[in-house]
Amino acid sequence: MKNIGILTGGGDCPGLNPAIRGVVYAAEKFGYKCIGIMDGWKGMIEGNTMPIDRERVEYIISQGGTILGTSRTNPYKKENGVRSVIDNFKAMDLYALVAMGGEDTLGVATKLYDEYKLNVVGVPKTMDNDLSATDYTFGFDTAVTRAMDAAKSLIDTGRSHRRVMVLEVMGRHAGWVALFTAISSAADYVCLPEKKIDSNDMLDKIKKAYQRKRFALVVVSEAVEVMQEEKDAINTEEVDQFGHIILKERGMGEKIARFIEKNTGIETRHAVIGHMQRGGEPTLFDRILATRVGIKAAELVRDGDFGKMSALVGNEIKAVPLRDATGELKVVDKNWFDLMDILF
Ligand code: F6P
Repeated sequence: MKNIGILTGGGDCPGLNPAIRGVVYAAEKFGYKCIGIMDGWKGMIEGNTMPIDRERVEYIISQGGTILGTSRTNPYKKENGVRSVIDNFKAMDLYALVAMGGEDTLGVATKLYDEYKLNVVGVPKTMDNDLSATDYTFGFDTAVTRAMDAAKSLIDTGRSHRRVMVLEVMGRHAGWVALFTAISSAADYVCLPEKKIDSNDMLDKIKKAYQRKRFALVVVSEAVEVMQEEKDAINTEEVDQFGHIILKERGMGEKIARFIEKNTGIETRHAVIGHMQRGGEPTLFDRILATRVGIKAAELVRDGDFGKMSALVGNEIKAVPLRDATGELKVVDKNWFDLMDILF
């Protein structure tokens, strides 16, 4: 019986467990045995595994997080990291490896396939929804659903106290979470990393919304760059093994809230939903999407179609080259800016 390793890397998100379950169900049906690799690429470097089978994963479809654990370890940034991955691939007697992750985790998978022809396939996950070559990633729908609930609560308290409320959401360098939260929550303004903020426009719209209803809601993406003077602070921020700055330290929601209060004279409060967006039960959409891409990954292994990722294209699950998914980030584009002009 051939072995398939499964790992989950990068930030966790709801949908990872259903995706693991999808791989295991399909792989066992095709006659493979699955091995869980602990904590992403770290487990491949250290040779850390756990047994995993259909019985173990049966009910994880409703669980947030990942039963395999995760890390932001990059084998290319560790001494002998890549060598250890290759050696452990052999030592674990793996026929193939299914890597579930975003641009970082799958970027490593892409390199291992390109440079060493390792039998890898990818499964797209990220609450940021910023992977190319797939229309959506699981984790995103749940994250926005959580943020939408938070926005609803802020509207209640903002309306009662006659305040401007600012909600900071995650999303890293892509504004998808902020944009979809703002649209679905009837926010009055949204600040995205992809679009430079026009402070006058923002203040003007907030003032008008406030005059009309005595409160306003602003959604801010964590990676937004407001005023030029804030940029300098970024240079001092820490970076992780994939070179990303740790955005939560920036406190953009708070900075924008202060800016609004100072320049409008309206009492303003901010809230950061943070990691609550990444936890909890996956939504229906994420459970189904994750299950489908997981099953497709096992099919790619069965068909020997390595170096590919299962992707949602329209309403179909298709195989796309890993390279296409990780080459460039998918960010909010001009079509959405036009929509923003109408809504905010
Ligand atoms: O990539 C997912 C994500 O949640 C980003 O939106 C966020 O910037 C980052 O991870 C936070 O990372 P960590 O959990 O390591 O603080």
